Amino acid sequence: MNNYLSHFTLSKNSGSYSDSDSDDDVSPRERDQESSKGFKDFCVKNIRYATIGRREIEIAEQEMPALISLRKRASQDKPLKGAHIVGCTHLTAQAAVLIETLVMLGAKVRWCACNIFSTQNEVAAALAENGVPVYAWKGEGEQDFWWCIEKCVAEDGWKPNLILDDGGDATHFMLKYHPAVFKKIGGIVEESVTGVHRLYQLSKTGKLCVPAMNVNDSVTKQKFDNLYSCRESILDGLKRTTDVMFGGKSVSVCGYGEVGKGCAAALKGMGAIVTVTEIDPICALQACMDGFRVQTIEDIADTADVFITCTGNRNVITRKHMDKMKNGAVVANMGHSNTEIEVSSLKTKDLVWEKVRSQVDHIIWQDGKRIVLLAEGRLLNYSCSSVPSFVLSVTACTQALALIEMFNAPEGRYKQDVYLLPKKMDEYVASLHLPQFNAHLTELSDDQAKYLGLQKSGPFKPAYYRY
Ligand SMILES: NC(=O)c1ccc[n+]([C@@H]2O[C@H](COP(=O)([O-])OP(=O)(O)OC[C@H]3O[C@@H](n4cnc5c(N)ncnc54)[C@H](O)[C@@H]3O)[C@@H](O)[C@H]2O)c1
Repeated sequence: MNNYLSHFTLSKNSGSYSDSDSDDDVSPRERDQESSKGFKDFCVKNIRYATIGRREIEIAEQEMPALISLRKRASQDKPLKGAHIVGCTHLTAQAAVLIETLVMLGAKVRWCACNIFSTQNEVAAALAENGVPVYAWKGEGEQDFWWCIEKCVAEDGWKPNLILDDGGDATHFMLKYHPAVFKKIGGIVEESVTGVHRLYQLSKTGKLCVPAMNVNDSVTKQKFDNLYSCRESILDGLKRTTDVMFGGKSVSVCGYGEVGKGCAAALKGMGAIVTVTEIDPICALQACMDGFRVQTIEDIADTADVFITCTGNRNVITRKHMDKMKNGAVVANMGHSNTEIEVSSLKTKDLVWEKVRSQVDHIIWQDGKRIVLLAEGRLLNYSCSSVPSFVLSVTACTQALALIEMFNAPEGRYKQDVYLLPKKMDEYVASLHLPQFNAHLTELSDDQAKYLGLQKSGPFKPAYYRY
């Protein structure tokens, strides 16, 4: 057996093979590593994982046909030649397919993780082996996290002109600590609800001095990644960590936006009795129409078995709520930030933390009550399960097109504001994925196109259409 193979056991609690390594206790920052070709501009858990990581990337490629066809279509004209991209996203096999696509389209990149738990160490190693400057590993400390971003933003001789961000950390870091570098950025592509929210705040206060593309609100991101990806991965994350049976269990889903809708649908399908909490009457009414009870978290805190936050908000589940919860209640977050559950309020002397598995903590009250906290309140599916490549292909393709658009747009098309991806590109991303299903589109007749006032090649819906 290859010695790197003997080294791996697939951890029960994670999509990563390298979770349970025992000889890797040294921080990656203290290790001197180089690829087989002598490349050293990276910091990953262990470069020896590269072969396994390459296999993970190849598996993801099978489910990401649109990016592969984009590689073929755009490999001649290299639409990203001259682009220098700082990437800060979840560093998964699917992200690697995107990163390698960007490189094939001519870009130079430096990449770090937007979350300290979601990096697949093998994949990061495979990227480094392939000569990509990548600074990320699973289980980074808080300081490591910012150090990795610094290495991607402000390395000597590196002049970034695009940012691909997920959550806004790279953008805000650059703005705060490297304002001169930030001013030279030609465009930011942001994919998360949270990051987009932060961009609009910057824009409102006049601090956004470069154009930005809100990819989250592209239909091909929001309706696919947020909804279908969460619908597919929530059960996986919960089951790998807890072994709980969901049939008949009472589950509270906080927030009935896209992520909440996906989670609630999956749990309902499994036989759970789902209650939704919402602040927005429209989403609350949707939840009612979909057959869910809508209650407040206070109503349900002492009876639900499982709590899932999906709001993009903060302090949705507080210590007060957790004090009321029953023994064995499971608490997890599917939103971008670890602020939805008030985890800091659990770090008090009267409570004992017991790590029972990777990404699973029992918080023990003085009377013996235990609450099961998953991934320390960070997003569950990226921390504890795999995410479906095909849905991420849709998102990744949207991101790639947004970067190409920002980089190639004529001077003046995008000003210092936040933009949506042109509808035609959204439709193009979707069309690239249809062959996978052997789906055949109906073509408008001339008469029908005239009747609807549309071009036969689209766009087929006005910007305000809600899918
Ligand atoms: N885990 C994943 O794979 C994944 C994928 C996409 C997005 N996200 C993240 O999930 C979060 C939600 O994304 P979304 O697309 O569903 O956003 P969304 O805006 O569509 O939905 C959030 C919902 O939460 C509601 N809400 C806000 N505060 C609340 C509160 N205190 N109590 C109850 N409801 C409240 C809002 O009214 C809204 O309907 C974001 O942080 C996003 O970045 C995660």
